[in-house]
Amino acid sequence: MNVLVTGANGQLGTHMRLKTVGSNHHYFFTDIEELDITDVAAIRSFVKQNGISAIVNCAAYTNVDKAESDEVAADMINHIAVGYMADIMAEVGGLLVHVSTDYVFGGNLYNTPLPEDAQTNPTGAYGRTKLAGEHAIIHSGCRYIILRTAWLYSEYGKNFCKTMLNLTATKPALTVVFDQVGTPTYAGDLANAIAFILENGLDKGNEGVYHYGNEGVCSWYDFTQAIARQAGNTQCSISPCHSSEYPSPVVRPSYSVLDKSKFKHTFGMSIPYWVDSLKVCLEGLTK
Ligand SMILES: NC(=O)c1ccc[n+]([C@@H]2O[C@H](COP(=O)([O-])OP(=O)(O)OC[C@H]3O[C@@H](n4cnc5c(N)ncnc54)[C@H](OP(=O)(O)O)[C@@H]3O)[C@@H](O)[C@H]2O)c1
Repeated sequence: MNVLVTGANGQLGTHMRLKTVGSNHHYFFTDIEELDITDVAAIRSFVKQNGISAIVNCAAYTNVDKAESDEVAADMINHIAVGYMADIMAEVGGLLVHVSTDYVFGGNLYNTPLPEDAQTNPTGAYGRTKLAGEHAIIHSGCRYIILRTAWLYSEYGKNFCKTMLNLTATKPALTVVFDQVGTPTYAGDLANAIAFILENGLDKGNEGVYHYGNEGVCSWYDFTQAIARQAGNTQCSISPCHSSEYPSPVVRPSYSVLDKSKFKHTFGMSIPYWVDSLKVCLEGLTK
């Protein structure tokens, strides 16, 4: 099978490159320089010329704060372009593997892990555009797997883990919010899950929406404590604070733990605990 991976220079895309080494499939890795997903003619011609029968879309507009003042651009990438890829996969009878987000939820106060069919209710532009992207896929008639994830981090690009690794090494004190709870998700684990599905043909008969993140639950404060401890950055004093002390253009979900039961039952894959995956990432960063 020929597989196109878009946004391949991002966190997830870079891990997709690593996890598919030695695969029986033929992967084509592109980012915006080679293939802009908002260019429908370019995608159609790439798919036709290269006999692509699956797309793994790792491209996205991921700047949650900036999306508030730039919703048209975010919508173009997270919704309209996703619809283009879904329509093209429908034309060729292909599969679209797409990654979405816990930001499709929000607004309500939850205190229990969210199943796939929980009521969506995005409170900001990023979540709205990602939810519109999901709907475009579902209505396209293509075969699809949508994996909603949260709090993605890795050795690559800019992310919370790398920022806190640096700050806890260089600052004497930090305050970090403790009233937003979720699960950090290592991009290497998510890429592994996607590769596992494709390598084993598990997409067939299992099309649908799934939640995928690492196991466990923590606040951003706990995540920062774990990063500092595992990295040996013990000289930085880390204190918990409320989200209200950090004004932000977006209301962030206070509890966005995803229930991953459907993913585990369907694909028979175990999921690593977030603390163990953090160790893997930090080892990767210090190599
Ligand atoms: N990061 C998180 O915390 C998080 C949480 C939940 C879900 N997700 C979802 O997980 C997926 C992967 O996220 P990530 O963190 O790996 O994203 P990322 O690191 O921001 O990577 C996205 C990649 O897409 C590229 N891109 C942007 N516009 C494009 C276009 N028009 N055509 C082709 N490529 C384009 C970006 O290039 P530039 O860098 O040049 O823009 C970047 O290389 C996304 O769907 C995201 O919404 C992320």
